[in-house]
Amino acid sequence: MYGMIHRAMRQMVFEQLGEDAWLALEQRLKIGPTELLTAMVYEDTLTLEIIAEAAARLNLTVDECLIAFGRYWIKYAEQGSLSSIMKFTGQNLASFIANLDRLHLAVGAAMPGAQLPSFATLESESGHLVIEYRSDRVGLEKFVCGLLHGLMDRFDVQGDVSIASRGEKSIVFDIRYQDRQ
Ligand code: HEM
Repeated sequence: MYGMIHRAMRQMVFEQLGEDAWLALEQRLKIGPTELLTAMVYEDTLTLEIIAEAAARLNLTVDECLIAFGRYWIKYAEQGSLSSIMKFTGQNLASFIANLDRLHLAVGAAMPGAQLPSFATLESESGHLVIEYRSDRVGLEKFVCGLLHGLMDRFDVQGDVSIASRGEKSIVFDIRYQDRQ
């Protein structure tokens, strides 16, 4: 995955455990600043190793860490240069999710080699969304759960995310939330 993902992971570990914990993680995985270049593409196995090592240090399972990281990514993207694209993507949960592919298309244009996911809204009614996530990658289900929770946090709504079905390259998520709009 792109180094920008590694940098977000580093920031999460920094904030929760401090710099020494991150440096210990780097030492353990024999990585350093060259594995943290925003615009470089790294093997997914490395990204997953970083997540697994961070999970151990945060005293979380890998699944729990993927959820925490998904939630964190939304906060991370709200800061700095990514904040304006987040702002323009949507003003509520349903419209934001409906525009996610546009967001990725826009960022992906400047990121050759990015393997971006796609999200389709299958059902949308007040307080209930059914979303299909498609990806060439496997194993990121919990990350997506965390991202969807992060989006609910962003729009200040309470809700639950569950899995409605799984296909070969897709997962259907069911989101029920208290719609306050
Ligand atoms: C400004 C905000 C965002 C940026 C810059 C961004 C960018 C990226 C990048 C660079 C990747 C990795 C692609 C690769 O290295 O192959 C990625 C993956 C991903 N993004 Fe985003 N993204 C943003 C927001 C979001 C949001 C809000 C969601 C919410 C659902 C999301 C869902 C995902 C998922 C699930 C993946 C994993 C890729 C896969 O499933 O194959 N992203 N994104």
